Amino acid sequence: MEDSQQRVFIFDTTLRDGEQSPGCSMNPDEKLHLARQLEKLGVDIIEAGFPVASEGDFASVRQIAREIRGPQIAGLARANLRDIDRAWEAVREAASPRIHTFISSSDIHLKYQLKKSRKQVLKEACEAVKHACAFTGNVEFSPMDATRSDREYLSDMVEAVIDCGATTVNIPDTVGYAIPEEFGELIAYLFERVKNISKAIISVHCHNDLGLAVANSLSAVRNGARQIECTINGIGERAGNAAMEEIVMALGTRRGLFGLHTGIRTENIYQTSRLLTQITGVRVQPNKAIVGQNAFSHESGIHQDGLIKEKLTYEIMTPQSVGMPESHIVLGKHSGRHAIAKHLKQLGYDLRDEELARVFVRFKELADMKKDIFDEDLESILYEEVLRIEEKYKLVYLNVVSGNVAVPTATMQMEIEGKIAQDAGFGVGPVDATFDAIRKITKTNYSLMRYTVNAVTGGTDAQGEATVQLKYNGRSASGHGAHPDVLVASAKAYINALNRIEWIKKSESGGQTGKR
Ligand code: KIV
Ligand code: ZN
Repeated sequence: MEDSQQRVFIFDTTLRDGEQSPGCSMNPDEKLHLARQLEKLGVDIIEAGFPVASEGDFASVRQIAREIRGPQIAGLARANLRDIDRAWEAVREAASPRIHTFISSSDIHLKYQLKKSRKQVLKEACEAVKHACAFTGNVEFSPMDATRSDREYLSDMVEAVIDCGATTVNIPDTVGYAIPEEFGELIAYLFERVKNISKAIISVHCHNDLGLAVANSLSAVRNGARQIECTINGIGERAGNAAMEEIVMALGTRRGLFGLHTGIRTENIYQTSRLLTQITGVRVQPNKAIVGQNAFSHESGIHQDGLIKEKLTYEIMTPQSVGMPESHIVLGKHSGRHAIAKHLKQLGYDLRDEELARVFVRFKELADMKKDIFDEDLESILYEEVLRIEEKYKLVYLNVVSGNVAVPTATMQMEIEGKIAQDAGFGVGPVDATFDAIRKITKTNYSLMRYTVNAVTGGTDAQGEATVQLKYNGRSASGHGAHPDVLVASAKAYINALNRIEWIKKSESGGQTGKR
């Protein structure tokens, strides 16, 4: 039997801290879709957002709270009554709601940001927790910038909020400053000094500024922490948060050392990572642990030789254990709708009839252009068809002339709210010309922050997957598109980013009320 003391709770903050990072913003449908996947993955708590930040954030947290019944649903709130009321309003319909409230505890933050005394901040922390406890018995408190705080003051604060009813106390390394041994010692110190610590679960939340977020989190659990806050693919503010897949696989692979377990169904890790990539267009680097393309491929002859003789020689975990499929041809021109539905089901996607119908039409179009259709091709179609956002702008056709003797020229036709518009664009290259045509037709001129193209699979007939990040109102909007013609993929990505900006504009007209 599993010992409950040895269980580490996984608190996923991809939809809150992760979503705050540049290029990772998601619309409500995408957030809900990801939340469903997180439920399937088996996370214990989903931090669904920061409800006071905007009407859009509020609505999205509430929708997740209503629809996701397995994991607990947390809403973030600063330590003030209005934030907490709003967070509660958003999560109250969850099967198991949680309010997560925070205030800084470091002198640096108190002096320069809050301009308040330690005494005042301690009082506000206690009042916030008491206020949240009036709504629910499931209250988490975080002393922000804990790792740069005075240890005695930090432990006084932890003790005080537990006395006020906090059931989880989270120790954030907000600026990613800690070193594993030191962070482990801080957790041990709190266990030693805080008298009522056994009444709460101690959690950690590490940022990756020094590349140590996962190591710090693991060091904390070795010293008594039993909740880890993390994100899929490690996305998050600046250098990101601790990557969930790395934490979970480290605890699982080295179970003999840690003696701890999580409730994560690891075979769903890869699919979750891919879904996030599809949604945000932000890819993981090929050598990323656990989910990178090369994470399980062995190039060295000596390693390959060892693996043939015995897998244990160079393999500490299997690709199957994280659900990484071998890339193989799945389907072709003659595959029927039933075969596609069956295959998608094997990949973990259970589509509604109308979704399947749309995917099938796109599949046939693609199969007419390219012989072999891979899992990755299906996933890119799936993303475009199932998670499609409302489209103000649509591509009708694109024709590009380029080469080393002509001025690259793109002629394009688009549909804008049902009306056809066309123009030609010029540039230093075909992509530049294509984007110029889009800007002219749509009469927009957002600055381009990032443009990338990758092949979805191998081979010269592979689909190109393009990502475009545009800057709008201090925020970034990412769009992406896939097509065997990389220029069409690029145009689709640009247009997708424009449609996302339209969506952001709409959600902003609901009013931004908080700062994140
Ligand atoms: O990094 C941080 O300190 C946070 C808190 C709100 C937990 O994200
Ligand atoms: Zn954070």
